[in-house]
Amino acid sequence: MSILDEIRKKAREQVKTIVFPEGDELRTVQAAAILKAQGLAEPILLGDPDRISDAAEKTGSDLSGICLLDPAGSPDRTRYRDELYRIRKEKGVSIEDAERLISDPMYFGIMMVKQKDADGLVSGAVHSTGDMLRPALQIIKTKPGIKVVSSGMLMEFQNRDIGYNGLLVYADCVVNPCPTAEELAHIAISSAETAHTLGGIECPRVALLSFSTKGSAKHALVGKVQEAAAIAHGLAPDLILDGEMQFDAALVPEVGLQKAGGSPVAGRANVLIFPDLQAGNIGYKITQRLAGAEAIAVLQGLAGPCNDLSRGCSVEDIVNTACATAVQAQSP
Ligand SMILES: CC(C)(COP(=O)(O)OP(=O)(O)OC[C@H]1O[C@@H](n2cnc3c(N)ncnc32)[C@H](O)[C@@H]1OP(=O)(O)O)[C@@H](O)C(=O)NCCC(=O)NCCS
Repeated sequence: MSILDEIRKKAREQVKTIVFPEGDELRTVQAAAILKAQGLAEPILLGDPDRISDAAEKTGSDLSGICLLDPAGSPDRTRYRDELYRIRKEKGVSIEDAERLISDPMYFGIMMVKQKDADGLVSGAVHSTGDMLRPALQIIKTKPGIKVVSSGMLMEFQNRDIGYNGLLVYADCVVNPCPTAEELAHIAISSAETAHTLGGIECPRVALLSFSTKGSAKHALVGKVQEAAAIAHGLAPDLILDGEMQFDAALVPEVGLQKAGGSPVAGRANVLIFPDLQAGNIGYKITQRLAGAEAIAVLQGLAGPCNDLSRGCSVEDIVNTACATAVQAQSP
């Protein structure tokens, strides 16, 4: 079974409510109809119900039983506005600002997740990553004990000998341009959780990557990764994690043995933590394009799951992202 099939199966086992701020977008409406019909999630489509119904008619989507919610007329609007004001007033947001922001379906949807009126949120068919990520960071914030929101990229290979039955988790490939050592440690811990929850990896083995293996090179950049490993060990002593190490030492058993003999991770890593966003983003695209791996991105470390789509996404991408969000919501 592919990782996406596994995720869909898990989503069906404990159905979650997913809010879509881009509720009248054509692909989103089609995805909502599929999610409902296949018992994968309970979608909530935000927007003007007439526009959502028009989109359904245009795409031949059956929205029976799906909640269509107009933020403009919602009885929860004042409650969300007041809570938004309470959360952001110290950052200079006035009640008038909060009133304006809550009219934006993105903020309304984020407040639904914050107030636990929805289990998760999916957007990005129209909006940019930052449009969703910024309010999510400001309002939902990080999980307890986690300092930084990051992305976990599930990389699935045809070759089942790679990683855990053909699966590796890469991070961070989307969010943090230049993480500190402490942030890297938190990214490593969140990624192990993603590997377990979404990837079904029973025993995540986390490698903190560098151009050096166990002190083979000396440089401030190497020192940062070493420090991240020490911090992660302190924060999560039971996590199987090691670093710094090179990519080949992390993945190739003979190289791992030669360069880092005795390491519980070297040669058999299944979670790879890149030292910064340039390395992570380039690394996942190389893997995708040259090794033909399927890449599935999720945000990790948020106190309520929210995920972003690419603006070029297909209906199937939206269904898959909603299922991944639902599975994240199963283990808060
Ligand atoms: C995530 C991102 C959008 C944040 O944007 P920003 O507007 O510059 O964010 P700010 O620094 O103003 O921070 C906004 C809030 O989010 C918080 N925040 C920012 N990044 C965070 C993170 N990774 N984890 C947790 N909180 C974070 C800040 O502390 C701040 O909180 P506050 O307002 O309560 O003080 C930005 O880091 C970014 O653009 N990342 C790269 C995304 C990208 O281009 N990816 C390319 C690959 S697709």
